[in-house]
Amino acid sequence: MDVRITLTDPPSAKQRRARLAAAGGYNRSPMRRPHPDFYDFVRPLLFRLDAERSHRLLFALLRLGFRLPGAATWVDRRFGRRVPQLPVDILGLHFPNPVGLAAGLDKDARHMHMLAALGFGWLELGTVTPRPQAGNEKPRLFRLVKQRALINRMGFNSAGMAAFVANLSARPKPCLLGINIGKNRDTPIERALDDYLYALRAVYIHAAYVAVNVSSPNTPGLRALQEQERLEELLQALKTEQAALARAHGLYVPLALKIAPDLSDEQIGFIAQSVLACGFDAVIATNTTLARPGMEADLLAHETGGLSGRPLKPLATRVIARLYRYLQGRVPIIGVGGIEDAEDAWDKLVAGADLLQIYTALIYQGPRVVERIVRGLADRVAHSGQPTLAAAVAAARAARIQTVRHGAR
Ligand SMILES: Cc1cc2nc3c(=O)[nH]c(=O)nc-3n(C[C@H](O)[C@H](O)[C@H](O)COP(=O)(O)O)c2cc1C
Repeated sequence: MDVRITLTDPPSAKQRRARLAAAGGYNRSPMRRPHPDFYDFVRPLLFRLDAERSHRLLFALLRLGFRLPGAATWVDRRFGRRVPQLPVDILGLHFPNPVGLAAGLDKDARHMHMLAALGFGWLELGTVTPRPQAGNEKPRLFRLVKQRALINRMGFNSAGMAAFVANLSARPKPCLLGINIGKNRDTPIERALDDYLYALRAVYIHAAYVAVNVSSPNTPGLRALQEQERLEELLQALKTEQAALARAHGLYVPLALKIAPDLSDEQIGFIAQSVLACGFDAVIATNTTLARPGMEADLLAHETGGLSGRPLKPLATRVIARLYRYLQGRVPIIGVGGIEDAEDAWDKLVAGADLLQIYTALIYQGPRVVERIVRGLADRVAHSGQPTLAAAVAAARAARIQTVRHGAR
């Protein structure tokens, strides 16, 4: 009976939640979870401070705390080890679970051991630029609490490549690390390729994959690199360099392209074509948006910058779905944008993502969000009767196609 209803009239998100709750609730909404954790107490204090200052303070305190004897083990036991194993094998890499940390939180590779202990499947560090730069003037990070969103115009504040690589090399790597590279603000767009090539060479041997960021809205002109001719030239040159580096080091490091959510269907089509033509290894969809969907009344919504979190969710999922239609699984997609719980994560996977990343949900929900999402996904796999996450997602995608066909009759 349930199946019939699903085929002819897909339930709304609210109905799905109610059904799941009635069936034992394997996907509880994080906002209505029964037991508060320590972050529920810390968050109100942090949120009293300016967003960037509280972020700095938190990380400074955590870094200090993490040096205490036994602290790393405690964090690992309290967070990391509670995250179930839900492996994904893709890009020639083994991810212990599909939820990674999105770029921007650890731009200088300073916090990776602490972040890895929270149980992420991997971390994406950066964006790192070749030369140090301060980024935009403060304030440049804003919380839109009601919308569970952030607006940032950080502008690639970066300690620069030399410091980044020194931080990376100082200690053994705690987990798989993607490294996100960008260009300096004062590098003219015509010379952008030089910055990306420099950065690729510098991080190549340290990275599980390298993410090429052409989608930050806060570096003037950067998004123009997503336009077809410029993009193909950039991707081709990076692939040529990758081949040379792979030969020199005997190591193939995949390249991923990170794109914006503010793209027309036609632009997504061009990007997919370029990615396929150049043999790029993966696409990360998406970065923050310049749009302010349904937020016209919010004063902070008028701040310049990229919007992340809940309002970005449908925009990012739309890009993933369109991209998947073109790529058809030939190039993996890392889905990011507004994921708050296992249901959002599942929607992104069924839309076409193979792996997922979060950022804003970590700020609003704290570190337990990783466990909650991965556990919710693991429960879904168990309920599906499929042996792996990939198989469960493939079955759900096939069922969705059936639904569309049924609906069309
Ligand atoms: C404060 C902040 C800084 C960010 N910095 C970067 C960055 O340096 N490079 C990048 O590719 N994305 C950056 N992002 C975008 C995130 O990686 C991610 O794509 C986006 O926030 C959407 O995910 P979310 O809704 O889960 O936050 C940043 C996001 C935020 C909120």
